[in-house]
Amino acid sequence: MKTAIPTTPTPDDAALWHAGALYLADQRILPERAEFLRYERPGEVAEAIRDMVVRGAPAIGVTAAYGVVLAGRAAYASAGADWKTAIETDLERLAASRPTAVNLFWAIRRMRDRIGQLDASDPTQALLEEALAIHQEDRAANRRLGDLGAELIERPTDIITHCNAGAIATGGYGTALGVVRSAYAAGKLGRVYADETRPWMQGARLTAWELMHDGIPVTLQADGAAASLMVGGSVGWVIVGSDRIAANGDVANKIGTYGLAILAKYHGIKVMVAAPTSTVDMDVASGAEIPIEERDPQELLSCGGRRLAPAGCVARNPVFDVTPAALVDAIVTERGVVLDPTREKMLELMSGGAHASG
Ligand code: MRU
Repeated sequence: MKTAIPTTPTPDDAALWHAGALYLADQRILPERAEFLRYERPGEVAEAIRDMVVRGAPAIGVTAAYGVVLAGRAAYASAGADWKTAIETDLERLAASRPTAVNLFWAIRRMRDRIGQLDASDPTQALLEEALAIHQEDRAANRRLGDLGAELIERPTDIITHCNAGAIATGGYGTALGVVRSAYAAGKLGRVYADETRPWMQGARLTAWELMHDGIPVTLQADGAAASLMVGGSVGWVIVGSDRIAANGDVANKIGTYGLAILAKYHGIKVMVAAPTSTVDMDVASGAEIPIEERDPQELLSCGGRRLAPAGCVARNPVFDVTPAALVDAIVTERGVVLDPTREKMLELMSGGAHASG
């Protein structure tokens, strides 16, 4: 963990705890400006998640965990020994910030478990230790799954990624971009083609920034350009992250991932989903049960603060879609790899079964 806040955030700095406050790299303005915002109030952390200051499923989970630390501190300051009752409103506000990324609920549940073990005294230090552990474990999980994913790539190839599943979307190193980093270090990666990812442009703003920061070759392309690239034959894998993986291996990820997976199937290109097990939700049987966030249509009607569509134009803005397990060749987690995912294989993975199951 960093002991001081750098002047400008690097890709590894989505969320940092320093001197009693949470610092979030403002992902809405990167890479044009690199700034931290400072948080001391849990309600403001919930707003930061909702407003995309921090985004990416694991980074949202890590941030929520720090938000619970702030909530515990505030509850003890206002209610003393009754802090466990007083904290509830803030826990609910954090849980209501975004609906799809299950890492949010996973982190809050884990913090709740810790709360359950505590007595009536000031919980701040114990909660902080738990949040720091969640952060550290996510970073370690990404390193591990990055290496496991890279092992699946048999020969040097170009890859396509969608959205940003990088260090800035996680506790560090990245999931899809963790695989990219490990594959690049192993000499197995030619070039990353990053879909720009309308409407928030996570690919253009964040993936391109991260990979250029690390000196990994990256080419930006419009979301609609993937099919024409696949025809050329240089792309061996589509590698993406996930916001929630259902018990049958269906994968929710950034809107457009489903279409990309269909294109990959048609062109004989493999699809890898890289995510820590905190993204797996065994409580939802299939992707049909995953709540899909719909955001304000204004995000689509304008770009960079400039109105694009005619006044009165109707728009829909679902920000995630579900890729059926049948289109996924590998789910890569820190616990192991699931090839051609099925309900049985996911259950084996999550109940501590085989390291790699095909
Ligand atoms: O809306 P976002 O930017 O939070 O969506 C992020 C994604 O879809 C990522 O691919 C996913 O969270 C995995 S991040 C490691």
